[in-house]
Amino acid sequence: MGNKETKRFNVAVLGAAGGIGQPLSLLLATSPYVQRLHVYDVVPVVNGVGVDLSHINTPVQCKGFAGDLKDAEASAKTLREALAGSDVVVIPAGVPRKPGMTRADLFNVNAGIVAGLVEGIADACPKAMVCIISNPVNATVPIAAEVLKKKGCYDPKRLFGVSTLDVVRARKFIAEKAQIDPEDLDITVIGGHSGVTILPLLSQTSPKVELSDEEIEALTSRIQNAGTEVVEAKAGGGSATLSMAYAGYRFATSVMAALSGKSGIVECAYVPSDLTDLSFFASKVELGPEGAKSIVPFKDLSKFETEKLENEVKVELAKNIKQGVEFVANL
Ligand code: NAI
Repeated sequence: MGNKETKRFNVAVLGAAGGIGQPLSLLLATSPYVQRLHVYDVVPVVNGVGVDLSHINTPVQCKGFAGDLKDAEASAKTLREALAGSDVVVIPAGVPRKPGMTRADLFNVNAGIVAGLVEGIADACPKAMVCIISNPVNATVPIAAEVLKKKGCYDPKRLFGVSTLDVVRARKFIAEKAQIDPEDLDITVIGGHSGVTILPLLSQTSPKVELSDEEIEALTSRIQNAGTEVVEAKAGGGSATLSMAYAGYRFATSVMAALSGKSGIVECAYVPSDLTDLSFFASKVELGPEGAKSIVPFKDLSKFETEKLENEVKVELAKNIKQGVEFVANL
């Protein structure tokens, strides 16, 4: 991906000292698409993360910025310094799940964190591509949209919920079953990014993988609950960080490749959408220099997928979106 002639962009990672933030920043510090990498967090170690990254022998200029939870005004100023001039902002800030928690349980803490960070984006880099990793993505993306609307700089083409990890997992699990290279497998995952809202379209992989009804049911459930597999295996130590850093890097790379003028870049993402009667929906999205160039419609769902979509995905997503919108209305 990329070479010495590749166009490079200014990227900021918010929540960069965390389990996802650090490996994601490491990958971005090696990216041929990155000019400048600003890493921001509310813990002082992020300054050291910035220094550490700045010793990597790539042309990327890395710098850490530490906010201070005890001084909101100073934090807001530092955040805006970190964000100024950013083309792409990736947000993995917030608390992760512990065993027994759903992503929705994170709402109370993460909603406010995301709203505050997006306010900073509206002030400092309103044209940036905003990629949200913080959970519950189904609700934090509507929160970001509402904050940007309030600030008068909402562009639905520039706002993305990062659902790439669902595709990464689907690819891996199906390819293992089909004994092919995961990179050779194309799969669409629609809906949202939590439990039943994650709907992998197993009926339409490319190449086609023949699966029995039982296998489809088991694989769908595994993809939907793969995050919980990691949460339980980490036994209180957090949720997916390394696979998420990989997925976040993959998505940010596609956004930057499209920004640089490359065509035909398609990724699944949870975005403002008119594919269904919901205002946000994950589907394939064609990326371009202005962000989401077009939302790729899904079609020919199997009976199993149609039932899941109507009875589970849409019902749960509608609640999550409403919760996000109401949160900002009540701020
Ligand atoms: P972590 O706790 O290791 O790191 C979070 C970082 O955010 C910490 O360094 C913390 O200091 C920082 N932070 C907290 N408040 C902040 C603020 N106001 N401004 C800037 N930074 C702030 O958590 P981890 O494992 O990195 O997860 C981060 C988020 O990503 C969680 O919400 C988690 O649920 C979500 N996640 C999303 C996935 C997805 O597929 N979209 C997959 C896995 C996790």
